[in-house]
Amino acid sequence: MANLGTSYLGLELDNPFIVGSSSLTRTVEGVVDCAEAGAGAVVLKSMFEEQIRLDYSDTTDALADSMHPEALAYLRADIPTRYGPRDCLEVVKKASDAVSIPIIASVNCTSHHSWIEFAKQLEAAGAAALELNIYVLPTDPEQKSGQVDQIYLDIVSMVTGQVSMPVAVKLAPYITNMTRMGKKLVESGAQGLVLFNRLFSPDIDIEKEEVRGGISLSGPQEHRMALRWVALLSETLGVDICGSRGIHDADAAVKMLLAGATAVQVTSTLMKNKLGHLKTMTTDLAAWMDERGYEEIGTFKGNLTEDPESAELFQRAQYMKAFVGP
Ligand SMILES: Cc1cc2nc3c(=O)[nH]c(=O)nc-3n(C[C@H](O)[C@H](O)[C@H](O)COP(=O)(O)O)c2cc1C
Repeated sequence: MANLGTSYLGLELDNPFIVGSSSLTRTVEGVVDCAEAGAGAVVLKSMFEEQIRLDYSDTTDALADSMHPEALAYLRADIPTRYGPRDCLEVVKKASDAVSIPIIASVNCTSHHSWIEFAKQLEAAGAAALELNIYVLPTDPEQKSGQVDQIYLDIVSMVTGQVSMPVAVKLAPYITNMTRMGKKLVESGAQGLVLFNRLFSPDIDIEKEEVRGGISLSGPQEHRMALRWVALLSETLGVDICGSRGIHDADAAVKMLLAGATAVQVTSTLMKNKLGHLKTMTTDLAAWMDERGYEEIGTFKGNLTEDPESAELFQRAQYMKAFVGP
């Protein structure tokens, strides 16, 4: 049978399926279940920068200036079951003793202020790598796109300057020039990119006339946006690219690998189909490789990358063919 092993952020994975950051990976038991179900690695549920700052600061005055009052009230509320930074460190410690697959910690951040010490603690607790989930919502009309980009780069250089574990950046697709951003993130120390995150989007309850939240699951068509950017960036950046978003089966994973990804993250499909779906996906990936005589992922990974220099013209041609017709 084909060897599904792959290397991601310098970590050896038995297969390319990484369970994405979510409630599936919030507890030690959850991580053990993922490992037993056959995950190649897991990304733990994210800690929010605001949670870390609140937990580690003596005073909340500074936080009050930089945080929405609703967020501060939410974080200050004393809810014993809430998963906080200290719980997260416990999960890293215990889970890395309990399973042999790599445990990737995750921080959701929009700045590098006052939380970097926590990254060091994650490393000391046994995290194999750190995933930074960064999304800056640009709402200031005076802020130039370069200034927004710089926030991402400052976070990455600050974190990578403080820890020795590999750091990956999980991006949303809403970046003006993804190719330049990728290059700059790598120059700032990122060892991998996760393309893409699926952002929380607000909704409105029209009966109550109020804003409501909640996370929805992705659909299988959503992988195609990530596919384009994996194909464009995997060869040029020289770091690991992890395909993410809308990967619901082995076929989508194969596409990501052909486009040059070294691993993929799966979340929604596991929530819908349960963890047993990991076995289905690894079996289907192995069957696809066996049929073609591919013994290792490296023999076909990146066979369908795109050259960014000709990509714009290529994409324009495909676009025209699709819309104008034969
Ligand atoms: C219930 C739920 C919770 C999530 N929590 C986090 C989180 O804490 N941190 C994070 O970076 N992503 C989080 N995500 C996003 C997933 O990790 C993933 O990037 C996204 O769902 C796209 O992948 P998918 O199409 O396989 O679901 C969450 C997603 C879901 C559905």
